[in-house]
Amino acid sequence: MTDRYAVIGHPIAHSKSPLIHAQFARETAQDLVYDAVDVDPETLPFALRQLHDEGYRGLNVTQPHKTEVAKLCVSVSERAQQAGAVNTLLRVDNGWQGDNSDGDGLMRDLARLGYAIAGQRVLVLGAGGAVRGILGPLLAARPALLVVSNRNPWKPEALAEEFKEYGSVVPRTHLALKGDRYDLILNATSAGLSGTLPRLPGQLLADGGACYDLSYGAAAEPFRRWAETQKAARFADGLGMLVEQAATSFALWRGVRPPTADVLQALRAR
Ligand SMILES: NC(=O)c1ccc[n+]([C@@H]2O[C@H](COP(=O)([O-])OP(=O)(O)OC[C@H]3O[C@@H](n4cnc5c(N)ncnc54)[C@H](OP(=O)(O)O)[C@@H]3O)[C@@H](O)[C@H]2O)c1
Repeated sequence: MTDRYAVIGHPIAHSKSPLIHAQFARETAQDLVYDAVDVDPETLPFALRQLHDEGYRGLNVTQPHKTEVAKLCVSVSERAQQAGAVNTLLRVDNGWQGDNSDGDGLMRDLARLGYAIAGQRVLVLGAGGAVRGILGPLLAARPALLVVSNRNPWKPEALAEEFKEYGSVVPRTHLALKGDRYDLILNATSAGLSGTLPRLPGQLLADGGACYDLSYGAAAEPFRRWAETQKAARFADGLGMLVEQAATSFALWRGVRPPTADVLQALRAR
């Protein structure tokens, strides 16, 4: 029987995951189907049991379920615990094992783009779920400085405390960034979804500095425009991260890492 996989979320119609995984399957000659399943938050525990009963081999999890799903897994990987969120489920006999491929996806995309972290001064804007998933891998890559700034000033403080066993995270408000200089600025806010960007002091980028937005499509435009006004040497959006984190999930399920270049090109062309 053909192995079945799916992404669950609410809403889910916009998800690019079925397209990405179908192409991964073709490129690695794997026999599988990949569905998109709309799961209402109220029915999440029931839906997870039902998808298990129906024989699904693995699931991707997107908003708003990433945090709640972690509580419903029989076990959770260390990186998913660190992130406090699960985006990949692997079938085991008695339920689902949770993992999180977001941090790995970002690091692979930064490597693909040639963006260095080691020895660099790195600023992360935002302190939500995505940031929880990327702080561990960013710290492991040994930046010279890792600053997290956010609209709600309490969240970076809490993250600095939570991640202190993995390295130093310096909490700041956006206003307090004035006078700082960074080699890389990562926008991990969701402000772009409403066409905005947090208000930032000018001259935050060092000469030759780069910008990366975890968002993609129209949501990445406000930060792209800001990066242009700041004379960023390079800018990239998060479409590459989306594809890389999907490839990491695929590799966890199928034991083979799919090539990502053609999928990324196909998504850009759409
Ligand atoms: N490329 C990928 O594969 C990938 C993976 C994961 C996430 N993402 C993207 O990353 C972004 C963040 O996702 P998330 O899951 O972390 O969301 P989240 O948990 O809802 O956090 C949202 C963050 O954005 C900040 N924010 C929202 N609106 C803002 C505004 N108008 N001004 C200033 N700050 C604002 C919030 O600040 P407060 O704390 O002050 O509210 C918070 O820090 C989303 O756009 C998502 O699509 C991409």
